Amino acid sequence: MKKPWAGRFTDTTSELVEAFTESISYDRRLWRQDIAGSIVHARMLGRQGIIPKKDAEAIVKGLEEIASEIGAGRFRFSTALEDIHMNIEAALIKKIGPAGKKLHTARSRNDQVALDLRLYLREETEGAISSLRNLQRTMLKICERHLEAIMPGYTHTQRAQPVLLSHHLLAYVEMFQRDRERFADALDRINVLPLGACALAGTTLPIDRAYVAKALGFRRVSGNSIDAVSDRDYVLEFLSCASLCLMHLSRLAEEFVLWSTEEFGMIEISDRFTTGSSIMPQKKNPDVAELIRGKTGKVYGNLIAVLTLMKGLPLSYNRDMQEDKPSLFEAADTLKSCLAVMEAMLPEVRFNTGRMSATAEKGYSTATDLAEYLVRKGVPFREAHEITGKVVLYCITHGKNLLSLDLKELESFSPFIAKDVYPFLDPSQSVKSRRSYGGTAPSEVRRQIRQYRKILA
Ligand code: ARG
Repeated sequence: MKKPWAGRFTDTTSELVEAFTESISYDRRLWRQDIAGSIVHARMLGRQGIIPKKDAEAIVKGLEEIASEIGAGRFRFSTALEDIHMNIEAALIKKIGPAGKKLHTARSRNDQVALDLRLYLREETEGAISSLRNLQRTMLKICERHLEAIMPGYTHTQRAQPVLLSHHLLAYVEMFQRDRERFADALDRINVLPLGACALAGTTLPIDRAYVAKALGFRRVSGNSIDAVSDRDYVLEFLSCASLCLMHLSRLAEEFVLWSTEEFGMIEISDRFTTGSSIMPQKKNPDVAELIRGKTGKVYGNLIAVLTLMKGLPLSYNRDMQEDKPSLFEAADTLKSCLAVMEAMLPEVRFNTGRMSATAEKGYSTATDLAEYLVRKGVPFREAHEITGKVVLYCITHGKNLLSLDLKELESFSPFIAKDVYPFLDPSQSVKSRRSYGGTAPSEVRRQIRQYRKILA
């Protein structure tokens, strides 16, 4: 097949090279963006008198027909035509004749592919932001349902202090908020028009980039044509945002895996969102959560792949950059499916709040409260810490817990301990009194929920 660029060639491309250099197998998914960009480009060329108006109209009509053919699965993509840009252009020329040959005026595939990618990423980023919002809403509902349920809070995966389950889950709402903000910030730089940079240096023809930007909904026009075709920061920003977001999803997934063990026994995930074992009939496995955790690594890999791809490239466009797409698509698809499946799974998680609060009572989780009780009585914190440590050691050796110590036992550790100590040893009192801003007290958690209700309204 004759290539659109074959004028200066006398021999044909090796088949091996065609197979090696093609990108149509994966960039065909950019057909919508490619056609949307070409339609506006053609209109601009007509408006500016660079091509006759009637040619521009014929191009637009032809492209619209091609779009419906692709949409209906009636389009034949050809590897010999390398990529989505040349596949569509060749089909256009075949369809409308010589006018089709005018579409690629004042444009190159270098700015065209950047345009397609930015249009694609704009959609993916907006999608991620709205999925995150849904996820936050779902999480908030669960928080409201279990507002006062107490669970053991952990550091080092060791029981630390009692907290509200709703407080713990709100930590994820907070993370997802940062994710949303990060994506929104990246969107600002994704949403810039590169078209009109042409190969790298701009064009001698009187194009109107502002018109194209406006018609395609771009916030502004790229300021330097060389940067416009060299730049893949927007891909990398998306990949970084996706990596962070998946890291958060993965931590939540990990907690679900841990909490659903018989050892923790804090949640049960519904049958619909778990799978069985082919050999052990008793098993119910949290595979969905595990796969979210597992797929996260792949996306980090995609980020590193594109960072490495870009680091040694001289300006401006280099063919290496074609390799950004498989990584980007894999990451975007993974992010999308992980967000969707996590949101769907959340309502299917049953929280075993009885078990959680029983566990919170064990393990001396109110030891810090005892130390702070002593601080209120004027004991310096370091001494209070030491005294409380001794109380805990006593409990361990005598098989007791803090709440089951009688007053005589407690008094023997410090003259400052009196009967009014007991509320401090009770997990639910402990939680209620952590009223510092952002703390775990129900009053504080209610405030956090109200704040997010407003943000998510
Ligand atoms: N398929 C190419 C890519 O994805 C499009 C740009 C090709 N430009 C070129 N000068 N060969 O990067």
